[in-house]
Amino acid sequence: MSDMSRRSFLSTAWKVSFGLLAAAGVITTWDLLKPTLAAGVDVIVKTVTPDAVPSAGVLEVPAARGYLVKVDEEEILALSEVCTHLGCRVPYIDESGQFDCPCHGSKFTREGDYIEGPAPRGMDEYGTEVVEGVIVIDTSDVIAGPAPGSERT
Ligand code: FES
Repeated sequence: MSDMSRRSFLSTAWKVSFGLLAAAGVITTWDLLKPTLAAGVDVIVKTVTPDAVPSAGVLEVPAARGYLVKVDEEEILALSEVCTHLGCRVPYIDESGQFDCPCHGSKFTREGDYIEGPAPRGMDEYGTEVVEGVIVIDTSDVIAGPAPGSERT
């Protein structure tokens, strides 16, 4: 291999390598910065049959960013996991049997009623209906949570 062709090969190899590295950087940056599809925003989510919702605890529905909560055999709530204070995700804590927001300490009952903290109201609720035996959550149908001191009716 002559000096010129070797130099040409190395030059091309460097350019290709740099190009691949730059492409990887762009892809990685885009992956980190791209807006995430807002799960649970204005979506219709088919979930489970009513008898599949546990009587104790909650059933998490990530696609709706919420939970199904069986109040009794007649009533199942679809609660938004978005804290009514500043929007943190509110997890259900099995040990306490309530929702505890990790951001500023708001607490809610299993039914999403306000207990304490800076949240202005209980957890918001989504509209639901049973279609062909399956609970369907409509996250565009948001019912504001009850004010502190009152319970969801
Ligand atoms: S975001 Fe939940 S208490 Fe502030």
